[in-house]
Amino acid sequence: MDSYSYKIKGGIPLKGDVNISGSKNAVLGILAAAMMIDGTCTLENVPDISDVHVMVKICESLGAKIETEIAPEGSVTLHIDPSGINTPKATNPDVSKIRASYYLLGALLGRCGEASLRMPGGCDFGQRPIDLHLKAFKQMGAKGADYRNINGGVISLHANPLRGAKIFLDIVSVGATINVMLAACKAQGNTTIVNAAKEPHIVDVANFLNAMGARIRGAGTDTINIAGVPHLPGNFTYSIIPDQIETGTYMIAAAVTGGDVTIHNIIPTHMDPLSSKMREMGYIIEEGDDYLRVYKDPEEEIWGTNVKTAPYPGFPTDLQPQTVVLLCLSKGQSKMDEDVWENRYQYIPELIRMGANINIFDHIALVNGIDKFTSADVKAPDLRAGAALVCAALAADGVTYIDEARRIDRGYEKIVDKLRSLGADIEIAESRGIFEDTEA
Ligand code: UD1
Repeated sequence: MDSYSYKIKGGIPLKGDVNISGSKNAVLGILAAAMMIDGTCTLENVPDISDVHVMVKICESLGAKIETEIAPEGSVTLHIDPSGINTPKATNPDVSKIRASYYLLGALLGRCGEASLRMPGGCDFGQRPIDLHLKAFKQMGAKGADYRNINGGVISLHANPLRGAKIFLDIVSVGATINVMLAACKAQGNTTIVNAAKEPHIVDVANFLNAMGARIRGAGTDTINIAGVPHLPGNFTYSIIPDQIETGTYMIAAAVTGGDVTIHNIIPTHMDPLSSKMREMGYIIEEGDDYLRVYKDPEEEIWGTNVKTAPYPGFPTDLQPQTVVLLCLSKGQSKMDEDVWENRYQYIPELIRMGANINIFDHIALVNGIDKFTSADVKAPDLRAGAALVCAALAADGVTYIDEARRIDRGYEKIVDKLRSLGADIEIAESRGIFEDTEA
């Protein structure tokens, strides 16, 4: 089925236990990093999602050998041998299907001293420039593509040699931080990234690079130092961290359905920005070493609050749409301030179809609480917005169809099975065809 939808009969409180998969954004950076190894590596806890399938295909198109091993209980391990990489050109059409393909610029520059990349794709929430990446590579001695003038949609860079540099990021950027870290591992001399992003997946990519033989200090703070090395010998096994955004999505799905769910295989401190907001609203969040339990006291009311997205440890923009669903089902008026992306409210008209009362003023959404969502035909405009619509549908009266569900499968491993195991009534259905002519 090329185009399919999720059919969800809402109104069932989610109950039980769910395991979280490996982090999408970590594994995509780590796969690119693995292309620089002089030896081999094994990656465990890899999420079985379509963005990973695409990234694996792109790496294979460069000449890397990647074997997938699926354990009987479903967990995915990748055995990676990049020794056959015979081109610095990542230009096949798959590159434009995902955002994280841009990490191959840093990785191929590091490995080959040159790189060509078809412009990356990913979710559409306004302009997604990569000027910071290109300016940083230029400071490191790379010549070629200028961010103002990208020829034929392909970025080509060459560096002879690639040199360490002091890189000041004037905007905190996850992608630029990781991309510079990748290239700097193999550059001559030292690189310092100032005003670096601090997301959990930055630390995971740095830990992986250090396991390869890189010399990175300070990942997780706003200054990262990288001493370039000539070889990255590799030959090790590494396990991907749990996905912060998948965890948050299940926390919100449990909360909006009035359920009681324990979410396992997570790092609870990564969830502090969401847990503290949910506690403030009236939810009960119990915390263990590697789990969180989410439920509410039936006697307590849930109140709205104000949320502003920001780089980590601020409130994650990738949980903004799901959190708006949470705010819809709380008392009073709430305010969401989207401060990372310029156009990340494309799902709000869909929520309004389901009965939400939301007004948008530029990057602020004012949310007036409602008692219930009603079912409707809606369409997932992007990955996290799709996840938000799933949360709304699980809480709604009646049957909701969410079209373009493939966008949700980009980032959520076995979401239908996981939700069913919590009692949800969700199935994959044929696309209803209602939105066929509405693609922007
Ligand atoms: C990554 C995540 C995405 C998440 C985002 C912010 C991946 C594959 N995607 O995206 O899910 O929403 O982090 O947490 O990991 N910017 C520039 N110039 C640049 C780069 C970024 O102006 O060269 C701006 C962007 O327009 C945006 C802000 O910086 O406003 C943050 O973007 P960035 O952190 O780079 O996001 P991505 O790495 O693309």
